[in-house]
Amino acid sequence: IGHIDDVQELRKSKSKIPERFLRDITERPTLVTPESSSSLSDIPIIDFSKLSKGNKDELVSELVRLLTACEEWGFFQVINHGIELSLLDKMEKVAKEFFMLPFAEKQKYPMAPGTVQGYGQAFVFSEDQKLDWCNMFALGVEPKFMRNPKLWPTKPENFSETVEAYSSEVRKLCQSLLKYIGMTLGLKGDVLNEMFGVAVQAVRMNYYPPCSRPDLVLGLSPHSDGSALTVLQERKGSSIGLQILKDNRWVSVQPIPNALVINIGDTIEVLTNGKYKSVEHRAVTHKHKDRLSIVTFYAPSYEIELGPMPELVDENNTCKFRRYNHGEYSKHYVTNKLQGKKTLEFAK
Ligand code: SIN
Ligand code: FE2
Repeated sequence: IGHIDDVQELRKSKSKIPERFLRDITERPTLVTPESSSSLSDIPIIDFSKLSKGNKDELVSELVRLLTACEEWGFFQVINHGIELSLLDKMEKVAKEFFMLPFAEKQKYPMAPGTVQGYGQAFVFSEDQKLDWCNMFALGVEPKFMRNPKLWPTKPENFSETVEAYSSEVRKLCQSLLKYIGMTLGLKGDVLNEMFGVAVQAVRMNYYPPCSRPDLVLGLSPHSDGSALTVLQERKGSSIGLQILKDNRWVSVQPIPNALVINIGDTIEVLTNGKYKSVEHRAVTHKHKDRLSIVTFYAPSYEIELGPMPELVDENNTCKFRRYNHGEYSKHYVTNKLQGKKTLEFAK
């Protein structure tokens, strides 16, 4: 993207919001105001320590909560996840420091058109497409061939080692969650992790500066995630921004400090034949406060062929998706604009 579409630069210049950011009336967000705080959603809270260290009763009752969360919400918050809080703080710090670098410095890591790695705006394919009020910095992390060393910044100091340490902890959490999700499905053994092969993992930092007209722009267009699981961390003190589509209404999510927000991605929706939903979500902006989110996408290896698991298909729940190659799905996902659950049509 050019200088002109960089939302932090736009914010600094105090110029009018360019037309390309202004949404048509049907797309404009509903915002959280003190009067409408009832639209804050209470997404389920999962106590990870009860899954990993609880006695049998605690494990069973937490698995039931996890099942409900996956089936009815597609989103939940994990507390007591076991990742050192100092590591979460460090990750927030380097991410914020990166976005606060001068534009010229960040421009050394440009996101090439049609890719989703580097600094810029992803998922932009045409001149008439609306832009999101967000700067992104995204990196492939695992397996190692996903890394483009030219895009790993040298500033701030400790950036790369922090991303590596953080990603390795989040990876373990994803693997554990997949194991427990498998248990909620009644699957024998650690089927999901075994099926995934060497999982693909990427991290994307989203920075949303304040916006003078949050009622007219979106921070991030509505979409479902192309991953199996997504792990979201918000920088403490961020404005409320994430909204999920629940029973056809947009409701805001307010993360608990130090918790991680998890959501089910398209892969799990396909594997469970729609039992667990990959829920549509978006981000809105705030007039005075900024927001920083750090998002990890965890997905199967690209060689993997996917489709609904036979255990979850029967005459009452007929097969809703075809079989496909996950690498092809990923490619389809990153080469199309974010548009609700449209990308999942690839699997139909
Ligand atoms: C995302 O959907 O990737 C992140 C949205 C957010 O910043 O909460
Ligand atoms: Fe997302």
